[in-house]
Amino acid sequence: TYVVTEACIKCKYTDCVEVCPVDCFYEGENMLVIHPDECIDCGVCEPECPADAIKPDTEPGLEKWLEVNRDYAKSWPNITQKKDSPEDAKEWEGKEGKFDKYFS
Ligand code: SF4
Ligand code: F3S
Repeated sequence: TYVVTEACIKCKYTDCVEVCPVDCFYEGENMLVIHPDECIDCGVCEPECPADAIKPDTEPGLEKWLEVNRDYAKSWPNITQKKDSPEDAKEWEGKEGKFDKYFS
């Protein structure tokens, strides 16, 4: 599966949802997640993310993010259409420590 990682938090560009053939993105207030059981591993969303937030879970160190994606995809609503990103999205690109303060 592919997973959405910290770089999405507060950037939330939503380009990813437009290309997913199985509509497996789910939306929280500050980030999206991918449902790992629905993702078919096609990989088309990865290059679409301007924040480089989407990674294959085969990359090392992404265990925590796989868990986050799995847990929250169960309760957050499905999102299939791009929407406006936050006005200050650019400022949050690449910032560290977003998970601790702004995950939701
Ligand atoms: Fe959707 Fe493919 Fe991305 Fe999985 S890898 S979330 S199926 S676009
Ligand atoms: Fe997040 Fe990138 Fe999608 S910032 S909403 S994973 S396009």
